Amino acid sequence: MDKFSITGPCRVMRGEVSISGSKNAALPILAATLLFDKPVIIENLPSRTRDIQVMLNLLKSLGSNIQFLNNKKTVKITKTKKQKQFGSYSILKTMRAGILILGPLVSKYGKSICSFPGGCVLNGNSGRPINLHLEALKKLGMKYEIKKGYIHAKSNGKLKGNKIEFPAISVGASQQLIMSSVLAKGKTLLHNLACEPEILDLTNFLISAGAKIKWIGKRTCQIIGVSSLKETKYSVMGDRIETGTFCVAATLAKGDLLIKNFDPKLIKTELNLLKKVGAKIKLFKNSINIKGPERIKSIKNITTKEYPGFPTDLAPQFMVLLCKASGTSSITENIFQGRFLHAMELQRLGAKITIKNRTAKIEGSTNFIAAEVMSSDLRASAALVLAGIVSKGNTVVTRVYHCDRGYENFENKLKKVGVKIKRSK
Ligand code: EPZ
Repeated sequence: MDKFSITGPCRVMRGEVSISGSKNAALPILAATLLFDKPVIIENLPSRTRDIQVMLNLLKSLGSNIQFLNNKKTVKITKTKKQKQFGSYSILKTMRAGILILGPLVSKYGKSICSFPGGCVLNGNSGRPINLHLEALKKLGMKYEIKKGYIHAKSNGKLKGNKIEFPAISVGASQQLIMSSVLAKGKTLLHNLACEPEILDLTNFLISAGAKIKWIGKRTCQIIGVSSLKETKYSVMGDRIETGTFCVAATLAKGDLLIKNFDPKLIKTELNLLKKVGAKIKLFKNSINIKGPERIKSIKNITTKEYPGFPTDLAPQFMVLLCKASGTSSITENIFQGRFLHAMELQRLGAKITIKNRTAKIEGSTNFIAAEVMSSDLRASAALVLAGIVSKGNTVVTRVYHCDRGYENFENKLKKVGVKIKRSK
């Protein structure tokens, strides 16, 4: 298992960062290719992230032909005669988003046998439930039974459009139902949807192929079923959380970064918070210039919420930043129970963090001293790297396969702006 060694503190963090395509937009878009008969070309794919490689392997195991064009960022996906509808545990246990093939397969082929998903341990022992997915799919006419950890699902012919109100907001369940309604018979109204930019990227992708999708409210989509989708070529949006991670890095390390290939309008909440702690930010159409302050101000309480609130996926990175603030701050996590696993590892570096229920209280002015720390999930891994950048000495971050799930070329992008980081086995 690979690890990173980071020699800190980084004195000069300066230069340009090129943001990769969004993993969390690309995953449902790739799953949605199962709805097509015609070829689909997807550009700006972060194909070197593990999650994308897992999804591409999953599509291959279902019979799709995957062909990289000109560079590693463009892929052409074509259906073959030997389409299958089996989502294996060996693949789905490594990535929760694998469950996004269920709806498209049942919608397109009328059946699927799909394993329950695995993925980050973000919810502690309550796992990563998919009840919201299954309950809503049933309302479109999907029938299923669960046998030995597999969902045996089928529909009598086409799924049928329906009015569905989600009892709770779920990114994955929203993506699942949008995809599953596109070929359903008649009209579907989806209420209380998640509205992350990655979901709009999915609907824009499907609309580019002739799907009849209309956002008729902030969290409401109307979908009129079509008989088939056209060939299309679509470029995935920039990665919102990678952008946020590098914005935190610059703020943390008194850096001066030009972060390119991302529309700053999509992260207003995060940028306002970074301005509050003292960062100087200039916005351009598709890039952000951010300068870190001499003194980082504390923030009484940050609470994570569904978009457009503060994203849970940036809570670990902000926790590192607030350790360096002058004064006490706190972060309250409302989405996942297991979001603070990295706090114990930060304490090994000298952080003073106390967790009560869903709130982490963070003492400021931490003098981070290098140590060996272990990644527990994707964003925790990135947060530990950020801490290593401002720690005195050589920090070793182990199990960076977590980082590789969602950050493409992370260490090389950091090296390019002055961070002393190297990967080893
Ligand atoms: C997506 O996960 C993202 N993953 C996560 O990013 C992100 O943290 C999360 O949305 C919230 O923004 C991808 O897009 C691949 P949810 P998802 O369904 O869809 C509960 C990363 O770092 N829930 O919105 O799994 C669930 O347990 C990853 O890139 C149910 O109870 O998130 C959680 O507490 C980590 N039943 C809450 O809802 C369900 O059927 C939000 O989950 C589904 C979810």
